[in-house]
Amino acid sequence: MAVTQKAQRIPLIAGNWKLNLDHLQSIAFVQKLAWTLQDARLDFRKVEVAVFPPFTDLRSVQSLIAADHFPIVFGAQDISEHDSGAYTGEVSGAFLKALDCSYVLVGHSERRTYHHETNEQVGAKAAAAIRHGVVPIICVGETAEDLEARGASAVPVEQLTVALEQLPDGAGADVVVAYEPVWAIGSGQAATPEQAESVAIQLRAVLADALGPEAADRTRILYGGSVKSGNIASFLREPNVDGALVGGASLVVDEFAKIARFQSHVGV
Ligand code: PGA
Repeated sequence: MAVTQKAQRIPLIAGNWKLNLDHLQSIAFVQKLAWTLQDARLDFRKVEVAVFPPFTDLRSVQSLIAADHFPIVFGAQDISEHDSGAYTGEVSGAFLKALDCSYVLVGHSERRTYHHETNEQVGAKAAAAIRHGVVPIICVGETAEDLEARGASAVPVEQLTVALEQLPDGAGADVVVAYEPVWAIGSGQAATPEQAESVAIQLRAVLADALGPEAADRTRILYGGSVKSGNIASFLREPNVDGALVGGASLVVDEFAKIARFQSHVGV
């Protein structure tokens, strides 16, 4: 994969808040984040910054960003595979679109572990997002046991392959992929940039098979798992890593802002 193709993919720095920050805290947080990035003169044409608050914050975040014209985008942490009906507790893609969500996470490892989401369900959720014009960020990654038994890429490749099979109009679909080794999430033990790159290369091959070579070239593949301001630049130097999905470090404004400013770090 040539580096010139990478240059056409605008890096995405995505903050997954998980079950943190209520709607009032979300307003204070997004305000401070936007001001910090503007003070630092971040060039938003060269990096896209996204936050993923809990559902109950989305309306507040939307109103604030629209009113103050902040160049930050946002998305939800989950979506129903159904569009409407008797599905208590679910939130549809239509509702997310109505709140201007650009993105939605699907298949985060915490959903797979605690809610037993299968690869097929993750794909159905990605399809629901696409139906409503919301870009799914399809999360994949191997556990420590998978890594030991099958190496780093086998499980992520399988997860992405099955998920993409659920997209009815797969060819050319607009998706983002997040490679997050489960053992690296919240552990302080990030994968090496070389491992992230080698899995990303294989995930891009899966994208090429399922969506076609052009879509594969333009699709962003993020790395996630213990990303910090101190290691972000080393991941983004890899030709097939196009951004990061950040958990813990996305909850501290100054740290997340530093991650978003990775292009100003030395040697990038
Ligand atoms: P972490 O989480 O950055 O805290 O490791 C990443 C994620 O779960 O998306």
